Amino acid sequence: MSVNGLFSTFAPMPEHKLYIETYGCQMNVVDSEVVAAILQQYHYQLTEDINEADLVLVNTCSIRDNAEQRVKSRLRDFRKLKEQKRSVSIGVIGCMAERLKEKLLEDELIVDLVVGPDAYRKLPELLQKVESGQKGINTILSLKETYDDIQPVRMDRNHVTSFVSIMRGCNNFCAYCVVPGTRGRERSRDPETIVMEATELFSKGYREVTLLGQNVNSYHWNEGDSLLKFEKLLERVAHIHPSFRVRFATSHPKDMSDDLLKVISQYPNLCKSIHLPVQSGSTTVLQRMKRRYTREHYMERISAIRDYLPGASITTDIITGFCGESEEEHQQTLRLMEWAQYDFAYMFKYSERPETFAAEKLKDDVPETVKTRRLNEIIELQGKLSLESKKRDVGQTFKVLVEGTSKKSEEQLYGRTSQNKVVVFPKNDLKPGDYTDVTISACTSATLIGH
Ligand code: SAH
Ligand code: SF4
Ligand code: F3S
Repeated sequence: MSVNGLFSTFAPMPEHKLYIETYGCQMNVVDSEVVAAILQQYHYQLTEDINEADLVLVNTCSIRDNAEQRVKSRLRDFRKLKEQKRSVSIGVIGCMAERLKEKLLEDELIVDLVVGPDAYRKLPELLQKVESGQKGINTILSLKETYDDIQPVRMDRNHVTSFVSIMRGCNNFCAYCVVPGTRGRERSRDPETIVMEATELFSKGYREVTLLGQNVNSYHWNEGDSLLKFEKLLERVAHIHPSFRVRFATSHPKDMSDDLLKVISQYPNLCKSIHLPVQSGSTTVLQRMKRRYTREHYMERISAIRDYLPGASITTDIITGFCGESEEEHQQTLRLMEWAQYDFAYMFKYSERPETFAAEKLKDDVPETVKTRRLNEIIELQGKLSLESKKRDVGQTFKVLVEGTSKKSEEQLYGRTSQNKVVVFPKNDLKPGDYTDVTISACTSATLIGH
């Protein structure tokens, strides 16, 4: 080989700068890390300064209309960026890319690239098109893609807690939800690659991992003749190290089994915190939502959690003002919240999403003012429940994983209990990644304060 040939083989490619902004759920956070890994191979290095970026990607969410509006307003900001700096390309990836497809290129002229959640491996070739002045688009969904061989480039700030995707897509088709449309069919990832990725995190100093999927309880993998279910996977991850904490989200009430609760009770490093979205406390609303469980089944599952995991925290998601929701149905949600004594809840007004069952077959007939009033009632009640939940912890001692320095004071650290509650406490000689016992002396509705 000639010297010239050698040089051209090893000559470094010009380096480009990539800026990614991420919206939506934690699965999108990991997807952005996967995208960063794919583009690193293509000579794009991450930057936190949008002004020096050659490529700006916005990883988007379609779950509610306001999530999409936020992205649209960001695209208007990016237009200014493009006017100032002609060499920057703008890409929309994630759920909004999947939902709107070509329409995004037609409506938002500054967008050069549109890539759906299952097409990230195609980014380099799509970028080549963009670099040659064309538009790049790929929104093909896959039945298999899990990106299981790609080591995400971590973008978290604390280097203590991280996420691993264990499955993609969703088969549940809840009447209100865009996710089955934007993420495609449910598929589980090879358990070996999950355990490898989690082990790698532990060896890099991370002390907590959250296993992610839209419905993690339905995780399954065929190993020869036997079926590996979620609780078995959880056990394997728990075995990585006793001081490596494991969380998971999200669980679906219809698949929350006693076997899973038993496994969680057996391992101290499996966190005692269950996120179990109820959506509504009324069986008739749940039926219209196609959630496939009743109020009674849900309550029975909460009782099972309390039996197997005494002291565990229970959190939820609630939608108010779904199609046809009556005052009595709304009251049932409030009564269920009081009964369940949720430690925390994400609460939303129903937002009709195009092409869902609800948009096509049901009437979005609860007036906006009523939706808002009901949401406020739910938020107010949850505020009380959250405060009571924190007050119950005062006087008790918890093992806390230190995550970083408190926003309010350099002398204070913050971390979380196994129950996922945030605790602020004096620094002493502790550093992020350490475990420490903290006795709780006071609280607000959001934070525990201890020493
Ligand atoms: N897979 C998870 C969560 C998916 S999205 C689950 O099934 O629980 C997160 C939350 O957004 C949902 O739990 C629901 O409360 C809310 N959500 C989804 N679609 C919505 C819509 N159209 N309007 C309002 N909230 C919605
Ligand atoms: Fe959406 Fe229901 Fe799937 Fe959750 S389980 S992602 S709410 S369809
Ligand atoms: Fe949003 Fe897509 Fe997640 S719609 S909530 S980013 S799966």
